[in-house]
Amino acid sequence: MQFPLNLRNRNVKDWVEKMVALCKPDFVYWCDGSEEEYATICQALVKSGTFIPLNPEKRPNSFLARSDPSDVARVEDRTFICSKNKVDAGPTNNWMDPKEMKTRLRHLFDGCMRGRTMYVIPFSMGPIGSPMSHIGIEITDSGYVAVNMKIMTRMGSAVLDVLGENGEFVPCLHSVGMPLEPGQADVPWPCNKEEKYIVHFPEERSIWSYGSGYGGNALLGKKCFSLRIATVIARDQGWLAEHMLILGVESPEHEKTYVAAAFPSACGKTNFAMLIPPAEFEGWKITTIGDDIAWIRPAKDGQVKAINPEMGFFGVAPGTSEKSNPNAMASIRANTIFTNTALTPDGDVWWEGMTDEPPEGLIDWRGNPWDPASGKPASHPNARFTAPLTQCPSLDSEWNSPDGVPIKAFIFGGRRSTVYPLVYQSFNWAYGVYLAATLGSETTAAAAGEVGKVRRDPFAMLPFCGYNMAAYFNYWLRFGRNIRNPPRIFSVNWFRKDANGKFLWPGFSQNIRVLKWIVDRANNHGKAVESPIGWMPRYEDMCWDGLDYSKEKFSELMAVDRQLWMNEILSHDELFMKLYDRLPKEMIFIKELMLSSLWRSPEHWEFLQCDFEPTED
Ligand code: GTP
Ligand code: SPV
Ligand code: MN
Repeated sequence: MQFPLNLRNRNVKDWVEKMVALCKPDFVYWCDGSEEEYATICQALVKSGTFIPLNPEKRPNSFLARSDPSDVARVEDRTFICSKNKVDAGPTNNWMDPKEMKTRLRHLFDGCMRGRTMYVIPFSMGPIGSPMSHIGIEITDSGYVAVNMKIMTRMGSAVLDVLGENGEFVPCLHSVGMPLEPGQADVPWPCNKEEKYIVHFPEERSIWSYGSGYGGNALLGKKCFSLRIATVIARDQGWLAEHMLILGVESPEHEKTYVAAAFPSACGKTNFAMLIPPAEFEGWKITTIGDDIAWIRPAKDGQVKAINPEMGFFGVAPGTSEKSNPNAMASIRANTIFTNTALTPDGDVWWEGMTDEPPEGLIDWRGNPWDPASGKPASHPNARFTAPLTQCPSLDSEWNSPDGVPIKAFIFGGRRSTVYPLVYQSFNWAYGVYLAATLGSETTAAAAGEVGKVRRDPFAMLPFCGYNMAAYFNYWLRFGRNIRNPPRIFSVNWFRKDANGKFLWPGFSQNIRVLKWIVDRANNHGKAVESPIGWMPRYEDMCWDGLDYSKEKFSELMAVDRQLWMNEILSHDELFMKLYDRLPKEMIFIKELMLSSLWRSPEHWEFLQCDFEPTED
């Protein structure tokens, strides 16, 4: 086989040769990461019908892909952590014996690339050559994956230089699982409708993905590597790999504070990461480092520092508009790949929420004329855009820093129409780990399955932790003990609703008010009072300039209802019982302490629900 001239790594050569022998592609192509290569593959995708070129005047150098209707989201029930021992995958992951799984996969991959080109994609998660970065090589038979990887990662020839002779890499094997017989015509979105496997071997640090071409199932640098495999590497090396956005907050006094926030899939990370403060917050600026994944390590100065391992956004399209997220709209103005959005008659994209009125004559995400009366959305709810990070107007100047940025606060938030107040701060690190561990959220379209049901999503990592979730809680506890100045931990909930089912909180750009309180607290100059679950702002502790939001409404938004919280804590127990054999004892003790605070006498309780006594801190 012809290898790139700068490939000196024997292990890479051996692995690729083996995979070629197994998958039996017609051609092998090594990606160099150049713009010409990107253009060539895109043209090939246009020719094969996978890509529809968009109107170059409206959306330069951009394409629309329509997936097979059976392949539209991550498939969590087909995702496996194949550790040697079942207990190491833990009760929240699917597991199969690695030997048995390998046998099954070898059978599936045998000849799976017949009639197709195999792309070999060297990529770096994190700035090339940074001590925080890690290298992967993805082998795929999907050109769509190759061009998406070009946007989402630092991809190409330069990675082979860094890899050198002996560098380590995570082998990531991917196939759409649809070989072509001689003469058989291809389809626009090849995938395997019967069999899908997204498999991780944590001890071996390798990934095998079969049957799907969509998002996190196929762009293996993302969830498979940067979260599932990276959590295992991080645990062994003393750092954290998290499902978190990273943003910077600059105050009018030019105090810069970075925070990282974990929300479950499709719960607002991209919006929050690119927030533009309303006019009355003059002098405040939010800058973006990342919208989905953070790699975080303890630094010598006693802080923790974070990088975004990715190079692009793979963002949820529906709901994105000039009103909700102008920075995202600017990021996708050109050089963007859209998947499963609707198509306008003039060759642009559209999705629900982009404009108040849908344009006439839309073609829906399945390629049919859209009937607004059908009640069906024109764009799939998990339609996505793939766009370069560098196109984001709010991109932080430190986005490519090899050292990362110091993190002062961790924020956790789910979609909860009841129970959880707008914001509170945990009393300390261990309470913070408890609040993150018991994070719950109403499910979204980001994963295949039922939508809108509350499920526990610890740390927003339920589908992404590569080892036993209870051991992961314990690892977080240990991590905090060894940091001199650990970030403060907060809970937020943008999604609380009133009795009529309307959102109590305006959200979006108004979230700056919450962020300001958080940053003030993290910098030790914000005011708060104690509640049974943590520190909370009183009405007067938040900035209300320019927003007409009454004290009564705020009380409703912040209410900690005793009965609801008792029920909530009972449901935490459900998770804890599932994780019983490795659950850190702190979780049980903190639960007991919270119950005892909730049990304070009713007159104090009433007090806490509505109006807080001005006290210390
Ligand atoms: P993944 O990319 O799947 O990990 O998710 P994400 O967290 O980046 O998702 P994204 O930011 O795209 O979430 C979009 C959804 O969150 C849309 O349904 C938005 O309407 C909703 N959303 C974002 N911010 C807010 C907010 O402040 N309030 C409310 N009510 N909804 C919000
Ligand atoms: C998520 O589902 O959390 C995503 C999209 O960020 S995917 O890459 O498909 O996992
Ligand atoms: Mn995500």
